[in-house]
Amino acid sequence: MRILGIESSCDETAASVVENGTQILSSVVASQLGTHGKYGGVVPELASREHLRAIVPVVREALTQAATKLEDLSAVAVTEGPGLVGSLLVGMTYAKSLCFAVNLPLIGVNHLEGHIHAVVLEARQEGTGVAYPALALVASGGHTHLFEVQPGFHYRLLGKTRDDAAGEAYDKVAKLLGFGYPGGPVIDGLVPYGNPRAVRFTLAKMKGNVLDFSFSGLKTAVLRWVEARDLSREIEARRNLLRATPQPTTEQWLAVTAPATLDLLASFQRTVILELLGRAAAAAESIQARSLIISGGVACNAGLRAAAREAALPYPVYFPTPGLSTDNAAMIAAAAFPKLESGAFDDMSLTARANLVLA
Ligand code: KG4
Ligand code: ZN
Repeated sequence: MRILGIESSCDETAASVVENGTQILSSVVASQLGTHGKYGGVVPELASREHLRAIVPVVREALTQAATKLEDLSAVAVTEGPGLVGSLLVGMTYAKSLCFAVNLPLIGVNHLEGHIHAVVLEARQEGTGVAYPALALVASGGHTHLFEVQPGFHYRLLGKTRDDAAGEAYDKVAKLLGFGYPGGPVIDGLVPYGNPRAVRFTLAKMKGNVLDFSFSGLKTAVLRWVEARDLSREIEARRNLLRATPQPTTEQWLAVTAPATLDLLASFQRTVILELLGRAAAAAESIQARSLIISGGVACNAGLRAAAREAALPYPVYFPTPGLSTDNAAMIAAAAFPKLESGAFDDMSLTARANLVLA
């Protein structure tokens, strides 16, 4: 059974064909980095316009690479939300039109469930599967959520960010210091060159639900650190580099970054990792989880992966391969597979929902 997945919730237009929820026959991702990079974040109007331009060629390419005709498909899965409503609408409208034209079942997928299924898909490929109950940490540019995952894909929300998402904190710190967008990969690449214990940041103390996250205090602490110094020449040098080279290498960034700033970045990342892993481990313990799933764009982070390994947790920790960590459509097709098996289809009243919750 082949499912065509379509994802357009933020700044990636993606389509993929996945067979039996396991085999990725194609996964095409058209990134809009070139469009939003210079603004230091995603501009919603520009994102919708880019999706409109990309959706037809991206879907066509995904079908071609998978050597799949529309009539070979069992269903079309599309991201229903959460995300930018104008962006979601492009994928949604296209998926509905396709289903209507060729009489295929339509399956709406929650984007966060997709991120979790990036791991489920790969565990299925390995033939092992994920042991349940699992604790899932979804950390991306828009979300930082902890879910309990029970067999049959039943979810319970255990905690989430009260302000910025983890990826958003990376992006804002990067913007403040003149390192383009998205900030996560740039900072991650520079961290090995700094001392992670040089700047002392305090961990957030949560009143009420201790499994919630908060990154605004850390962001403000970074801002205070920057304001206390004159970094204007350094920041200007980075902005100039970014104007001359759209995606500078770590070596190029190193040439325009002072040792104290490298120490700041390493200390910032160490704090984010402590927040993420600390709360994920506490949540896992609270539900006696048999595995930990870490997904979403921030799951690409090399420091986070190393820290999870070194923590030697008493259950397996799963990360998706980097290509499946950031937004893609294979995870959407994979999440739709159990729904296809159980006949949980949607009809033409399905609509894009910017604030859709998973649990
Ligand atoms: O999942 P994703 O592609 O899109 C959303 O659903 O938001 O995640 C993008 C986010 C961005 O905030 C980006 O800075 C962050 O993931 N990110 C990283 C890394 N790679 C991407 N954050 C930390 N370290 C990375 N290596
Ligand atoms: Zn995402």
